[in-house]
Amino acid sequence: MTVKLIRKSSSTVDVAVKSPLGDASSTEVPKSVALIWESLSPDVRAALIASELNNSDGKTSASTSSNTPDSLSDQNSSISSSKEEAASITYEKCPVSGAQVMLTPVDRAPKNVFAFTKTHFTEKSEVTKTSNATVTTTTKVVTTSRGWRNIFSLPISYDVNMVAHGTLFDPMNSQLLDATGVHPEGYNSRFAVVDVEVDRLYGDKIRSYFEAMGIDLRVCLVNGGEADKRPQAVNYILDQLCAYKLRRREPFLAIGGGCVLDIAGMAACLYRRGVPFVRVPTTLLAIVDASVGVKNGVDYCCGVTDETYKNRVGSFYAPSACLLDPAFIASQDRRNISNGFGEILKLALVRSADLFDLLEAHGKTLVESRFEDASLKQAGVSSRIIDLSIQIMLEELGPNLWESKLDRCVDYGHTFSKLLEMVPGADIMHGEAVNVDGFFCVIISYLRGYIDMDTVDRVFSCMKSLSLPTNSSDLNLELAWQSCKDAIEHRHGEQRIPLITEIGESICVSDITEEELRRALELMDQFDH
Ligand SMILES: NC(=O)c1ccc[n+]([C@@H]2O[C@H](COP(=O)([O-])OP(=O)(O)OC[C@H]3O[C@@H](n4cnc5c(N)ncnc54)[C@H](O)[C@@H]3O)[C@@H](O)[C@H]2O)c1
Ligand SMILES: [Zn+2]
Repeated sequence: MTVKLIRKSSSTVDVAVKSPLGDASSTEVPKSVALIWESLSPDVRAALIASELNNSDGKTSASTSSNTPDSLSDQNSSISSSKEEAASITYEKCPVSGAQVMLTPVDRAPKNVFAFTKTHFTEKSEVTKTSNATVTTTTKVVTTSRGWRNIFSLPISYDVNMVAHGTLFDPMNSQLLDATGVHPEGYNSRFAVVDVEVDRLYGDKIRSYFEAMGIDLRVCLVNGGEADKRPQAVNYILDQLCAYKLRRREPFLAIGGGCVLDIAGMAACLYRRGVPFVRVPTTLLAIVDASVGVKNGVDYCCGVTDETYKNRVGSFYAPSACLLDPAFIASQDRRNISNGFGEILKLALVRSADLFDLLEAHGKTLVESRFEDASLKQAGVSSRIIDLSIQIMLEELGPNLWESKLDRCVDYGHTFSKLLEMVPGADIMHGEAVNVDGFFCVIISYLRGYIDMDTVDRVFSCMKSLSLPTNSSDLNLELAWQSCKDAIEHRHGEQRIPLITEIGESICVSDITEEELRRALELMDQFDH
């Protein structure tokens, strides 16, 4: 309902009442709406008008504090006057419209359902000049609406379990089976999405494990690799889930690299509007990064622009558990292991000088030995690197799971990399692109005076020792500037690009210019990549 007060001079006020859909300038109101105004008690009507008149002399209603004046509290006839209930009424100001919102717990569900009244004041002044006078007509409109707010908070808790090296498919270890949930006696089937390459390498072990447990395993094979991380792969899994008739609370397994986990996570989120799923990462990158958080998604080719956008379609959907067995890393080739280090180094740069020291000292050996160097294993270096990476990730993600805070240091290396990865035909993996972006940002930090050249050299050498690319022929001014524009779109109006201020410390900046990018590209070219 809208109450419209038209103030033509300091002494006269016309009052009109209109429905929300009605014409604001009309003083003719539908009978039903007029009846609503009539039905308000005289003191409520008087309070509304008085509040308007009080506000009319230069004081705009929108600037009223979030403590709604008594007159507004009074107008909701459903509010109980008992002290106890009045105490639970809360007021707030809508950050978008400036409306005053009064929330009253509903008796039937006082913890999560609140009846609201929103009162919105707007004011418009019109100046008309006649031959001998200037008349200012101020129109104030008070709009009230009502409804309910449902408040529901989802408890998110999942265990990221470390599995003793190489024991995941050992029938003596029940972790994998346990993760698939508790089922009625005699229910002996399970569903697993498995990366094609992982199936080639570990398929026999996976099947033997479940056989030994007396379980009939249905395997759904999905290709790893960025090229197949598309909605079609999600649909394929959904088809298989329908055919298998996965039960509502039956967790399915997703075993593979970051791509397969991202695809499977999305299928889990969609099937029956969400079923539990267990992540079993099989690449270094997925162990330290893709399996730990709550994101999933696929790259999306837009039918309108015909362009493919990285991770454009997906959701925030937590796994029911993660099982991390570092033994999988050994069957990856070196390039894939370096690729995983791209994300680890990113975390070190923004959050941990200790982790950086470990990478600087042992990264090269770990890449070459595929994480299996006996002395580093014995000294606990391999597990320390994995543990630290996971802890930093969880520490960063935990309080910001839904990314309500968009200044995220873990986005380091994820501004320019998105377009680098999507250049048609580009032969660059995710962690590699993150690293190229990461080095470009190191150069920007240097040009801004945040870090000195010794630090740049140190980071560069560490990247090289991990066999990571530090530049790409696709990184040019056009791509870099477009990435900044995309960042503004993705991070709600600001670039919010993380930059390091020293190793292990970072800030987010939003004022990178095209000229700055040009100078950074010039300096990039002077390194012996
Ligand atoms: N959801 C998230 O939070 C998140 C975080 C980081 C990265 N990601 C995504 O992860 C993807 C990259 O993941 P990735 O680097 O694991 O790549 P990937 O999943 O494509 O795996 C790389 C290749 O290794 C194969 N493979 C998997 N396990 C293997 C093993 N144990 N031995 C040998 N080969 C194996 C795969 O079949 C694939 O061909 C990207 O799409 C990225 O966007 C997601
Ligand atoms: Zn990433």
